[in-house]
This record gives sequence, structure tokens and C-alpha cells, in this order.
Amino acid sequence: MADAVGEFLEPDPALEHVTSLHDHLEIEIKSGHRADLRSADERGGILTRVADAIDRSGVGYEDQCSARHYADVVRCIEQLQAGPVAGAAGGSSWPARWSRWRTSRRAAATPAPAPAPATRIVDVGVFMGGTSAVFAGCAEELGLSLDLVDTSPTYLRFTHERLRRAFPKVAKRVRMFHGDLPTYVREVLMVETAERAVVHHDGAHEFDQVVRDLASLWFVRDRVPALAVQDTHLRCSDLRFMCFVDAAVFAVFGPDPTYRELGVVHEEVAPLTSPDRYFGNYCLPGVAEGMFLELAQNRFRFPHPTMPLEALLRR
Ligand SMILES: C[S@@+](CC[C@H](N)C(=O)[O-])C[C@H]1O[C@@H](n2cnc3c(N)ncnc32)[C@H](O)[C@@H]1O
Repeated sequence: MADAVGEFLEPDPALEHVTSLHDHLEIEIKSGHRADLRSADERGGILTRVADAIDRSGVGYEDQCSARHYADVVRCIEQLQAGPVAGAAGGSSWPARWSRWRTSRRAAATPAPAPAPATRIVDVGVFMGGTSAVFAGCAEELGLSLDLVDTSPTYLRFTHERLRRAFPKVAKRVRMFHGDLPTYVREVLMVETAERAVVHHDGAHEFDQVVRDLASLWFVRDRVPALAVQDTHLRCSDLRFMCFVDAAVFAVFGPDPTYRELGVVHEEVAPLTSPDRYFGNYCLPGVAEGMFLELAQNRFRFPHPTMPLEALLRR
């Protein structure tokens, strides 16, 4: 039977004994990029232990974010769980590198309420489990659950099995949701009202779908303390892909959101600032790889309060 969209997938026990998981699921490892989590872990914390677990599990994979991005998101989640993330105005415990706040004029004038901690991490866009492995480490150490959200059942199954092997203690708290974020919001977050979810977005990169995804969080805004968005520095020279993730953030939160920068910022002249030979993807120099937005410090400019969630779902 086909994997139904809009539902949780059951783990496949047959995968537990597969030796080469990506070959078995016919996932091609293209670049083979592996983020060096240990070198990004300035404090010998969660990331180092995640790297140890990944090595022990021995599963082949590739990552699609920088080690710096993974490290920065972990840091934000840890801080969120520990107490209020110090606002743009200060941040006693943050290293100097973390002064990269972008604060809206409105937020600077009005101190934001402290966000309550999360009970769950939602990873939208898993591929071979780069972010998911890092979040499984967070889930294990911070006592959170983890929902994997992806439109590909194959990537969900690969990632779930990879996590089961690397983080057996947390496997029972990891679920696979087959669908996009607006569908997950409708089917899960609007139903499981006791949960508070921090959402990481690295799914679709097309402007239109990212707007739908981020706007859907308006319907559960009181239960989503924070949102991390990846590839806000990415462009594609092939306009069919409409790769404008940062523009979608501005469409939903206005041109002046308050956020913490995540990940790498490329120099003006760097290899990744030229279109690649595969899709024509390139990174904008001087722009951060990701954004971490606390929803209490930001305001939705879209959707309009009269719009139903159904308006954001693809027909
Ligand atoms: C860039 S990869 C994610 C990389 C991963 N986070 C990592 O750290 O390596 C994008 C993923 O998003 C999924 N995807 C594409 N469109 C989506 C959508 N509308 N909703 C959810 N997932 C989507 C793809 O199947 C793919 O697994």
C-alpha cells in the first residue's frame, strides 16, 4: 500500500538488518559532504556526542548544512530550554560571535516576553538526516521528542532507521510524518495541544511553498516558541526553482524581523558564491546561512487573520 500523505509512517522492521541503508533505499550520495561536528563544538557538548554516535552507527550519509549551522541551532535550542534567550539588546552568556542579532525597530522598543521551553523539535526536510541526527542528540539530552516531516517517504525511512541505530534510547520518541508543514500543522500541532514545538525548516526552497510553510505556523503560534530557517543565503540561477527562502521569511514576518543569524557567512569571493554545475545554486556573500526567530519577538504579516489554514494547503 502507498504511504498516505498527511499521516505518520510506521517504521519498517525489515530495514533494521540492512547493511548498506542508502544502497538498499536507492539514495545516491552525491557530494558526500559531512559536517565536521566536533570542530564546530566549541564546548565539547552535544555535537561531539552526536558525532560519536554517528561514527558508531556506521551508516553512510551526506549532510546539506554547514557544521556551523548545526552548532548554532543546537546552541539556540539549548538556550531556549535553559531560559529566555537574551534579546538583541544583550545576551550575557553568548560568545562574541553570537552578537549577530538582527533586531526590528519595533522589537527593540518593546521587550519581548520570555519564550517557554519546547517539548518537541520538528525537523522539516530531513534528506539523509543531517539535522535530524543533531536533533536526536538534543532530544536525548534535553528530554524532547522529535518529529521528522518530509514529502519523501524514502528519506523519512532512511533517517528514522539511521537515528534508531545511532540513538537507540530516543528512537521511541521519534516519529515520521509524511507531508508538508501546513499539513503537519493541521493534522498534528493543532491536535496535540499540550506540545510546544521548535521548528527547523529545511524542506522546500521555492518561495511559494516556503511562504505556505511559515505562514501555517500562525495557526499554532502560541505553541511554537521558535523557528529556525536554513538556506536563507541561497539563490538559484534557474528561475524555475524560485529559490528565495529569505524572501519568504520577509513575506511572512515583514521586512524587519528579529532573528539570530545561523551558520556560515561567505566572503565576497568564495567558491560557493558562483552557480554550481548541477542546478545553478549559489550563496549570497555577506548573508547568513540561516535565521533563528523567536515568535514572541516577531509578528506575522501573513496570513491575514481571516484566512483559513486550508488556503495555505496545496490542492
Ligand atoms: C535540503 S534537504 C534537507 C537537508 C537536511 N536538513 C540536512 O541537514 O542534511 C531538503 C529535504 O526537504 C524535503 N522536501 C522538499 N519539499 C518539501 C516540502 N514541501 N515539505 C517537506 N519536505 C520537503 C526533501 O525531500 C528533502 O528531504
